[in-house]
Amino acid sequence: MTRHFLNTQDWTRAELDAVLAQAARFKRGLAGGASNGRPLEGKSIALVFFNPSLRTRTSFEIGAFQLGGHAVVLQPGKDAWPIEFDLGTVMDGEAEEHIAEVARVLSRYVDMIGVRAFPKFVDWSLDRQDRVLQGFAKYATVPVINMETITHPCQELAHAMALQERFGGTDPGSSPEQVLRGKKYVLTWTYHPKALNTAVANSALTIATRMGMDVTLLCPTPEYVLDERYMDWARANVAEQGGSLTVSHDIESAYSGADVVYAKSWGALPYFGDWEREKPIRERYRHFIVDEAKMALTRNAAFSHCLPLRRNVKATDAVMDSPACIAIGEAENRLHVQKAVMAALARGDG
Ligand code: CP
Repeated sequence: MTRHFLNTQDWTRAELDAVLAQAARFKRGLAGGASNGRPLEGKSIALVFFNPSLRTRTSFEIGAFQLGGHAVVLQPGKDAWPIEFDLGTVMDGEAEEHIAEVARVLSRYVDMIGVRAFPKFVDWSLDRQDRVLQGFAKYATVPVINMETITHPCQELAHAMALQERFGGTDPGSSPEQVLRGKKYVLTWTYHPKALNTAVANSALTIATRMGMDVTLLCPTPEYVLDERYMDWARANVAEQGGSLTVSHDIESAYSGADVVYAKSWGALPYFGDWEREKPIRERYRHFIVDEAKMALTRNAAFSHCLPLRRNVKATDAVMDSPACIAIGEAENRLHVQKAVMAALARGDG
């Protein structure tokens, strides 16, 4: 069976640790042995983008190049044909071809396929099926990599690596879990003028609990709690790894004593597709912005965000420009972890 990288939860801790260790070697300029130096030599990856990107597109293209491979970017509906994902559809609308052909044809040309496909933000019961990613995974005969759909596993790994670096765990042989276990981790909702994807929040909760941290999900009201699937993953991780999971709507107690503050904005799932109803609720919580006063409640916490970030909406200039902010390092780590994921998939690991 073809091995994909759709979610970190599908990979074992040992596999994730190996990817992070390889990413650290790439970052230090060590290829991990001559035979591993250019594991994509003569290989190629199709990067299929249904949504915009700065970091993901750049880091995957550069990463493939640095590993000796070649990347082809496709944007269905723009520079590639629009795709149908449902079986049985009479395709007399916009879509010119079906995922059953697209994924199998691409698999004849390339050795991996990356997919970015955000929710459509109309019906969460449909979006939570992740049909675009699952369609590629179903029909492709080469590994598929999630470049952000309803989770963002590449961001998770970059985040874990940045935290490991921050807390001094880059010594050979140390695992992120050894370094991060017992740290207080706060995933805080922040205001944004639009209702955004829950992917990074789902992912932050997943990886933070996977690393054995004491995790607080801070959000304005119960409506902003994440989908039960990801809450269940987090609870399962706590049961397996130790640590804890708390949901809080109280800013002061959540920030108090925190070692990590990770910020993200997302739309409330009960209002999915009816954002006019959610908007006035969201507007009441602009004060969830990450600022110096909140960071002062922490234990000299590291602050991060996946980027892009609207300054002085999600976090203040002072926080973004402070030594606490590790967002740029986390963004750099996207390159290293994705190279490690591509190298692992090219070798057929896992
Ligand atoms: N964090 C992230 O995935 O950035 P892009 O949307 O720019 O790719």
